[in-house]
Amino acid sequence: MQKTLSIIKPDAVKKNVIGKILDRFESNGLKIVAMKKIQLNQNQAEEFYQIHKDKPFFEDLVKFMISGPVVVSVLEGEDAVFKNRELMGATNPKEAKAGTIRADFAENIDANAVHGSDSLENAEIEINFFFKTDEIYK
Ligand code: CMP
Repeated sequence: MQKTLSIIKPDAVKKNVIGKILDRFESNGLKIVAMKKIQLNQNQAEEFYQIHKDKPFFEDLVKFMISGPVVVSVLEGEDAVFKNRELMGATNPKEAKAGTIRADFAENIDANAVHGSDSLENAEIEINFFFKTDEIYK
């Protein structure tokens, strides 16, 4: 059993497809063990994405992530980190396989509907960024 962090980004929240995206997780064996809708501020977005701080897209990424509320959740299941990334599809929706979340709901590489932890190690860091242990329920 693994846990991973999912963020439904501002573009998908604005499109009113939170439920459709959560259904992808539940229908594919992932359980939502924590969830909240929040508005990130600049400092939080910069800290969350600090791994990308030297990338040319960092400023736009932060600006986008604070452009509206997001839904953060902790997903639990067998091989959850990989399974979530399979369900999301490629970072660039134009390269995402048909039937993936990004192929179905994302516009472009900036507004790409969802974020998911890319490793078990980062999943733990990212979950702790948003949730206290007593906010996670099986
Ligand atoms: P995410 O999985 O949230 O991780 C970092 C985000 O940066 C990524 O999704 C994209 O939305 C965004 N991004 C913008 N340009 C790029 C790029 N060239 N390569 C990777 N990520 C990018």
